Amino acid sequence: MHTPVLLNEAIEGLNVQKGKRYIDATAGEGGHVFEIARRGGMVLGIEWDDLQIKNLKLALSKVEGLKLESYKSVLIVQGNFAKIEKVAKEQDFFPVDGILFDLGLSQNQLLSGKGFSYRSLDDPLDMRIGSELTENAAGLINSLDSQSLYEIFVRNAEEINARTIVEAIVRARSKKKFEKVKDLVEVIDKMVGKKDKRTHARIFQALRIEVNDEFNNLRRGLVGAVNVLKQRAGRLVVIAFHSLEDRIVKRFAKENGLKLLKKVVGRAEATFRFERSAILRVMEK
Ligand SMILES: C[S@@+](CC[C@H](N)C(=O)[O-])C[C@H]1O[C@@H](n2cnc3c(N)ncnc32)[C@H](O)[C@@H]1O
Repeated sequence: MHTPVLLNEAIEGLNVQKGKRYIDATAGEGGHVFEIARRGGMVLGIEWDDLQIKNLKLALSKVEGLKLESYKSVLIVQGNFAKIEKVAKEQDFFPVDGILFDLGLSQNQLLSGKGFSYRSLDDPLDMRIGSELTENAAGLINSLDSQSLYEIFVRNAEEINARTIVEAIVRARSKKKFEKVKDLVEVIDKMVGKKDKRTHARIFQALRIEVNDEFNNLRRGLVGAVNVLKQRAGRLVVIAFHSLEDRIVKRFAKENGLKLLKKVVGRAEATFRFERSAILRVMEK
């Protein structure tokens, strides 16, 4: 298990106290789940990716004194945090004292063979976090018209080279359908060069956001979170690695009268995060 970015800041932001209830909406590899449980909090962890769930349950079962069956304070549920309110209510786990969203992907996932990273050249160009999704990244690249592709790259990643990259994609796919990560990487290499990978990162990020409808999941997740948070002094902590996600969080907080208690900008490991700076916001209802 890796140590998550801004772990202490997030846990302190949640104000974890013994016997109180917390939701980790992005349980991932369990860094925050374990820490909340270690401090005596009860945790409902939600995670969308089947493989992450499997690994997390295994990790939980291995932790001494944290045997999943006997350890009543940790509950792990597979699902999309867009449905956080439904999940919490089904589990009779509400109202809660704090909710955490640690957005994006974890290192495990980049190496999981789903084509999330532009470095995994032989992976299929898939990028689905939830296994129930029907359209993958290659499907979008092969089927969308050029204007729709252009909008994805601009809307999700503010990509300045969007127009030329889309034109190159359209030319390439008329000869051969995109299947693998390398099919897309070769096109981007040709347009912007091989050395600087920032465009590669943005194009891959934009596609992943589209495949998984990540901005809308976040919007829905925030609405649901506020509905299951305690009326008074419930804490909402969000860690974003993408300025556009942080903008959604900031706007939501403003529109819903959440008080900003703290904002921390930290550095994430550039090797497995798509963007280098993480923005953590601690908000109170
Ligand atoms: C940055 S990782 C979280 C790492 C975690 N805090 C830890 O300590 O290991 C983000 C996680 O959120 C999950 N995720 C992304 N979108 C999701 C969604 N809509 N619903 C639930 N989980 C989601 C990803 O699969 C990934 O495991």
